[in-house]
Amino acid sequence: MISDAADFLRTRLDARPEVLLVLGSGLGRLTERVDGGVEVPFETIPGFPPASVAGHRGRFVSGRLRGRTVLIQAGRYHYYEGHPPTVVAAPVQVAAALGVGTVILTNAAGGIHRRLRPGAVMLVTDHLNLQWRSPLAGPMGDQDARFQDMSAPYDPGLQAIAREAAASLKMELFQGTYAGVLGPSYETPAEIRALAAVGGDAVGMSTVPEVLAARARGLQVLAFSLITNRAAGLSDEPLSHEEVLEAGRRGSGGMVTLIEGVLNRMARIPERS
Ligand code: HPA
Repeated sequence: MISDAADFLRTRLDARPEVLLVLGSGLGRLTERVDGGVEVPFETIPGFPPASVAGHRGRFVSGRLRGRTVLIQAGRYHYYEGHPPTVVAAPVQVAAALGVGTVILTNAAGGIHRRLRPGAVMLVTDHLNLQWRSPLAGPMGDQDARFQDMSAPYDPGLQAIAREAAASLKMELFQGTYAGVLGPSYETPAEIRALAAVGGDAVGMSTVPEVLAARARGLQVLAFSLITNRAAGLSDEPLSHEEVLEAGRRGSGGMVTLIEGVLNRMARIPERS
């Protein structure tokens, strides 16, 4: 599946992408910033099921952004949609096959830490895999590491670049641990207390499988959570997907600027060995 999809994309894209940008809920507007974008809907790619995101079809958009050749993944596959881990991780694996060396992931997340309020941006410094599954379990892909070291999944050099970019934009950048859960229900207040107790600062339903797949193929990873709501039980508001999408859209401007700042500062995209 991965090599067929990569062969197909090679015939569609003008240039080899350096960076994969995975956009979370409400963050689709980054695609508007790309020059000379070539768009490839997921369902046209061999082996890729359709994915929908807030009324848009899931798609790759490739082009130039801040001097980089980027591949943007607008829309993603989630476990809660019933997709197997192989499908959830496929876009990252295909990007790796195309030669991408760095992946920047974004997601919408609920704030658990008391300082993570709607609109805050959290640099993900670590995660908890509470989805209890992995795209790496099962038969080994040709290029995957079997027992991947995960002691520093989020690249320290890229994190430093993100902090510098935020400081120069005078943007507050929080840091913390992303608790990846299965969903699709939002959590109960008791679950949020439990996540806080085990070290979760923000909670969401994506990202972890993509990070696992990216690390196993040697990609460098950077991830940001846009906090769209206080997690369950921490505010009086009931949670709704519409609210999450709306808060994502409202807060996405800062995140887009930050990502452009990071791309600007990545002096040299390290080649994968
Ligand atoms: N919980 C899980 N996933 C989420 C949340 C949340 O509160 N907000 C956005 N995605």
